[in-house]
Amino acid sequence: MYPQLHQWLPTSIIAPAPIVFSFIVIVLICIVKKRSGNVSKTRKAPEVSGAWPLVGHLNLVSGPKLVHFVLGELTDKYGPAFTIHLGVYPTFVVSNWELVKECFTTNDKIFSNRPVNKAIKYMFYNEESIGFTPYGSYWRELRKMTTLKLLSNHRLDMLKPLRISEMDACFRNLYELWTKNKDDNVWVLVDMSKWFGEISFNVVARIVAGKKNFGSKGDRYKKVMEEVVRLMCVTALSDIVPYLGWLDRLRGLDRAMKRAAKELDSVLQSWVEEHRQRRVSVSAGTGSTANKTKEEVEKDFIDITLSIMEENQLPGDDPDTVIKSLILDMILGGSDTSTVTLTWTLSLLLNNVHALKKAQRELDAQIGKERQVEDSDIKNLPYIQAIIKEAMRLYPAGPIIEREASEDCDVGGFHVPAGTRLMVNLWKLQRDPNVWPNDPLEFRPERFLTSHADVDLRGQHLELIPFGSGRRVCPGISFSLQVMHLALARIIHGFELKIPNDSTIDMSGTPGIISCKATPLQTNFKKVIVASDSMHAVQSINKIADPPWETNRLADHLASLGGCLDENIVYFVPQIAAPPWETNRLADHLASLGGCLDENIVYFVPLINLESAIIAKEEVANRLYTRLS
Ligand code: HEM
Repeated sequence: MYPQLHQWLPTSIIAPAPIVFSFIVIVLICIVKKRSGNVSKTRKAPEVSGAWPLVGHLNLVSGPKLVHFVLGELTDKYGPAFTIHLGVYPTFVVSNWELVKECFTTNDKIFSNRPVNKAIKYMFYNEESIGFTPYGSYWRELRKMTTLKLLSNHRLDMLKPLRISEMDACFRNLYELWTKNKDDNVWVLVDMSKWFGEISFNVVARIVAGKKNFGSKGDRYKKVMEEVVRLMCVTALSDIVPYLGWLDRLRGLDRAMKRAAKELDSVLQSWVEEHRQRRVSVSAGTGSTANKTKEEVEKDFIDITLSIMEENQLPGDDPDTVIKSLILDMILGGSDTSTVTLTWTLSLLLNNVHALKKAQRELDAQIGKERQVEDSDIKNLPYIQAIIKEAMRLYPAGPIIEREASEDCDVGGFHVPAGTRLMVNLWKLQRDPNVWPNDPLEFRPERFLTSHADVDLRGQHLELIPFGSGRRVCPGISFSLQVMHLALARIIHGFELKIPNDSTIDMSGTPGIISCKATPLQTNFKKVIVASDSMHAVQSINKIADPPWETNRLADHLASLGGCLDENIVYFVPQIAAPPWETNRLADHLASLGGCLDENIVYFVPLINLESAIIAKEEVANRLYTRLS
């Protein structure tokens, strides 16, 4: 064809033809390139095939396989970003850190809302909840209050006695299980999932609502929470296709949720009222709180939020609802997550005995056998910290983080329209062989002491984000790490542990927002014989010298003996058996406060509330004074 064209064109035209042709080609290439550039910027992420009308790809994620596994397999097929339709909702799924970085840095504000479902709406105070309220001024105020006044390092230091007291009580229960056997060589079988549940819940309930040893009490709360959890597991049809809401009403789901919400609200309201009444009696200088300052009474999160409310600084329209929703978010956000993480961690250690032994060696070298692990030791236990990081890498408590785009945006060159839901699959992301080249699926805490020593859990390193990242990152990171590090270190230090029948721990998980271990973690325990195995054993009181005793000096002395006496609580006062101590009366008194006078060891007076703690403190201090002066 070309020669023919050539034949009839005039020579003048023929001569420059190659130049003109090249020019045209170049221009065309530029246009096409420019267009394709635009196209790539606004192109859509690959869509998973096989969507059904209305329900989309729900068939893929409602089978026996866990959702994060299914999404992981789809990542292998479609790449680290793809779109899936969950009901009528288009959902953008990402599974590598580069894309997640774009979501939680450049586009963080756009992705700062979370999708809300029917259960949240009815049972968790919907728009008032810090976890689910849309990004805006109310959320910002609430968040500021939470991070600065409730979960700041300063506040956590102030709350330390409550936290430690609950932990001590749970460890005492564990020791008691063992000591009942009276035989040092007996292995005792303990359901550690349950025990971790108790310790995590008790600690959170104590600092949030001042509830002591709540795991074994709190019947009304527990009953309604069981119903709430049951209802959360029922799929609401309106969460899949909004206009099928009438079917939920027809089958009574809305009614059941509203009923549970009412009962839950009533329990939380009663807690707020209890605190309010106590504050009134303080202001009036009456009752058992007479002569106590406001600071002495302000102890748990409810007290603090009531104070903030009195200063008219609580955001929102209805202060009581704000307080109740906050209590609920903290208890729910803080207890199951820590339980699940500790359960996975111990399971991993029992399946990797070399790591367990290495942790024991670290503890023996740093702490020895003469005392138990304290908070202040954790900074010197890098392997224990690495174990928690590695467990949270492999088994994040919530394997999927969900958000929603409030505006159109681009992620990785893909266009994400406003209203699209975002799912970050931590499960896949934190096992990415490009980031974790050394056996990414294996439990190797050492990687956090070597190749990944600078990676922490606070949301800055996008390759490891079990607490999330960006504006809506978990505000409870420091608190939960304190609890988890200390609980794990004390377990490993104070006990020998092994799997029953020397089998292997099953590592399968349950479906749900939080992925629990599917089967209970049954563990064989044997107490390690250390001086601290009495938990609070201290020296004889006879060693206290230099009367007369003043409270401060007594506190110093107790500290030097490994006990402590502080504003909030009386700890570990050694037993003084002989008169002039009126042992029985003191014992009765301590018992009435919920403490005990143990024949062999110590007085332990856990804090019930400030008044009784102060009475107890004064009582013990006075008696010590009387005895010694
Ligand atoms: C092992 C323990 C914990 C884990 C794994 C965990 C994990 C998470 C995750 C993944 C998020 C979502 C973050 C995001 O969207 O980027 C979150 C949010 C949240 N967590 Fe935690 N959490 C833990 C402990 C706690 C504790 C102890 C508290 C409080 C006492 C708490 C309170 C909250 C709250 C209030 C939010 C919502 C924050 C907001 O939307 O602004 N969490 N947590």
